[in-house]
Amino acid sequence: MRKWYAVIGDPIHHSMSPLMHNAWMTKENRDASYIPIHVKPSELEQAVIALKTLGCSGWNITIPHKEKIIPFLDELDESARKMGAVNTVVRLHDGTYKGYNTDGLGFVRSLEEKVGNSHHEKHILVIGAGGAARGIVFALVNSGYTHITIANRTVPKAQAICNELDIEATAISLSEAAENLEGFEILIQTTSAGLNKSEFVLPLSLDQLSATAIVADIVYNPLMTPFLNEAKKKGATVVTGLGMFIHQGALAYSYWTGSYPKAEVVQDLLLEQLGGN
Ligand code: ATR
Repeated sequence: MRKWYAVIGDPIHHSMSPLMHNAWMTKENRDASYIPIHVKPSELEQAVIALKTLGCSGWNITIPHKEKIIPFLDELDESARKMGAVNTVVRLHDGTYKGYNTDGLGFVRSLEEKVGNSHHEKHILVIGAGGAARGIVFALVNSGYTHITIANRTVPKAQAICNELDIEATAISLSEAAENLEGFEILIQTTSAGLNKSEFVLPLSLDQLSATAIVADIVYNPLMTPFLNEAKKKGATVVTGLGMFIHQGALAYSYWTGSYPKAEVVQDLLLEQLGGN
């Protein structure tokens, strides 16, 4: 029987997930399709009941449902439990539904795709301490990265990530990070500073950035954020957020189908889509 998958969110019209997953399914000749479904917050429980009743094989969840969906699922994997957020749901063989979070590991896959996986000992600075930073820090630690510092405007939130995940990481302020920037070999920008395209706001000054640094942003629209542009000017190697988007989706796809799809299949399609925005 033809399988079907979905992404739910509010709003949903901007989501590039249907384009990406349908391209992978077509490439692999799968008898399957992936559809966007607009679900308002007040309709979430009804929507999950409907998806389960109609036998949806799996779905992605985007803003604002990633946390609120948890009580409606049958089981959670460790990543989703630790994050308190789910971005992927998988229908198991017995018909129950399990929640995962592929965002953090998607970031690590994207970083390693761009710069290789020989950086486990490097000094990493994660900028920001929201949900995205939490997922990335968890995935970095699980992937064997050992020197992690979290810098945040509100330092206790960075400290809370270290305590709650029970990991060896240091929490500092943004100004402390800016003053000691030369000592960091990999920077990961996860804050929403400057997301409003009309204002130019960097979460911290990059004056002291080393020219040999690797600098990543999790934002992919625009592809080159003000933060990445500034880092590039300093000579750094930049990693855009598009790879994280592709790999969080690739991980979800692999949980559904057992096969890890190729980033190249969707890269140009997504770049074309972003260029049109
Ligand atoms: P997400 O779930 O996407 O990570 P979030 O939980 O709202 O989003 O977290 C947003 C992050 O951006 C936080 O680290 C926030 O800092 P605070 O914890 O101090 O609020 C950070 N942030 C937002 N605007 C910022 C700005 N103008 N300068 C620096 N950091 C900012």
